[in-house]
Amino acid sequence: FKTPKPYNEPVLTYAPGTTERNALKAALADARSKQLDIPMYIGGEKVYSDKKVALRPPHDHQHILGHFSQGNKDHIKQAIDAALKAKAQWENLAWEQRAAIFLKAAELLAGPYRAKINAATMLGQSKNAYQAEIDSACELIDFLRFNVTYMTEIYSQQVDSAKGIWNRIEQRPLEGFVFALTPFNFTAIAGNLPTSAAMMGNVVVWKPANTQIYAANVIMEVLREAGLPAGVINLVYVSGPDAGDVIFKHPDFAGIHFTGSTEVFQNIWKEIGNNIHLYKTYPRIVGETGGKDFVVVHPSADAKAAAVGLVRGAFEYQGQKCSAASRAYVPKSLWPEIKESMQKDISSFKIGPTEDFENFVNAVIDEKSFDKLAKYIDNAKNDPSVEIIAGGTYDKSKGYFIHPTVIVAKDPKYVTMCEELFGPVLTIYVYEDAKFEETLELVDTTSIYALTGAIFAQDRYAVEQATTKLRNAAGNFYINDKPTGAVVGQQPFGGARGSGTNDKAGSMINLLRWVSPRTIKETF
Ligand code: NAD
Ligand code: ALA
Repeated sequence: FKTPKPYNEPVLTYAPGTTERNALKAALADARSKQLDIPMYIGGEKVYSDKKVALRPPHDHQHILGHFSQGNKDHIKQAIDAALKAKAQWENLAWEQRAAIFLKAAELLAGPYRAKINAATMLGQSKNAYQAEIDSACELIDFLRFNVTYMTEIYSQQVDSAKGIWNRIEQRPLEGFVFALTPFNFTAIAGNLPTSAAMMGNVVVWKPANTQIYAANVIMEVLREAGLPAGVINLVYVSGPDAGDVIFKHPDFAGIHFTGSTEVFQNIWKEIGNNIHLYKTYPRIVGETGGKDFVVVHPSADAKAAAVGLVRGAFEYQGQKCSAASRAYVPKSLWPEIKESMQKDISSFKIGPTEDFENFVNAVIDEKSFDKLAKYIDNAKNDPSVEIIAGGTYDKSKGYFIHPTVIVAKDPKYVTMCEELFGPVLTIYVYEDAKFEETLELVDTTSIYALTGAIFAQDRYAVEQATTKLRNAAGNFYINDKPTGAVVGQQPFGGARGSGTNDKAGSMINLLRWVSPRTIKETF
């Protein structure tokens, strides 16, 4: 079988005077001038509830963009019923017909919906125009296009047969429904989790993070316009525990596609384990979780490149990428140059709302995150064993702004070297040049996570040493590059240890988790 050859959606520049910039400015102004009234989507119907929750831009928390309808346990039950009702027709639809819907969705996002979804991500999640473009436009489009190719390959795979025998493999969807539980930080990931399972013939209940509902609603509009039948993906806004209470006790629960924090995922896994006797089938548990992503600089590194990698890796999207650099190991010999370069770059950052395209740094996602980050910063200020060499200030009077902060720790196991902060705070440990090997050991053992990591070095022996020693310390490992910005179809993304089940988002490995193959042998 052949489906259209996938390609990565080119990233638009949004330079002054470009058509895309004008369209995005107009979409932002339009969104600001209206009041959203966002429904849930159950069985193809828009469902409104009496409980309206305000949506506010994190960088301008006094402005109300509109409201979404908060659901309850009954809405979850209705969503499961709607999914199960849609199941037989959806799974029996020829896979090419399913594929066509997702390819059409990719084209709608690339064209008429591009400005709308980017504006929703900029206002709802406080991403600047470039960060929104590479996420809610390009990465989401890439997931849809490349996954259709992987799905084609899966449905094309067959086994050999001997004389007088015909063996076949049938790729069945899971027996039941899939729960997609999605995070705030990437619109692309939020869109990928329900669609990748649905592509393989599954029906889905999707619960996004409250702070991502604005863009999730646009994804649903796109899928509906692309021809997704009623009930295949049901989008509900309920509290996580309410959703869990109903879903993890349902006999038809067949799998969870999760991205979010390690703690939430571990609790979900336990709950599923406790309820395992209730299910018809062992549920698939796929989760991408937290990170404490590292950058190691070797004495042979290009110091300027390492400094740029550190700044971009740590502070783009306010350090709220699961892949963000949050701990670094820099040799004493290069430290003065790297420090000076980073301080210069950071002091040039413009900070403020996303609607002003000059701002590189915007707000962190909400007050809870702001308060948590401010506390870590205050503790560092009061700790004589660490030094703050950039940032260290914050302000939530208008929006949740944390100024990009660099902490230098004398203790390589200082708390911010180990824990996931999920914000614009980078901690650096300066090591003796002769202690590279011991430093690699530290990198490997300091955190429970293993998502992304990077080595900057010109010396190939050092590159080889780091690649070997840090084999299990990162699912995505970068040589002379920042640890963020994995591209679908080029660097399949995911980590192990405390960072997830490593089922690589945007890959055939991931799609195979959403089918349950049947082997058929026919004898003549
Ligand atoms: P989160 O764990 O707070 O929330 C994720 C989802 O789970 C949301 O929909 C949330 O409403 C829901 N949830 C929260 N508590 C719940 C509960 N008790 N029961 C059921 N559902 C519950 O994560 P977040 O703040 O949205 O996202 C940030 C986290 O996601 C970070 O830890 C980051 O590293 C991780 N992340 C990982 C990857 C990856 O690929 N490894 C990618 C993106 C984000
Ligand atoms: N593609 C995103 C990154 O690697 C998840 O930062």
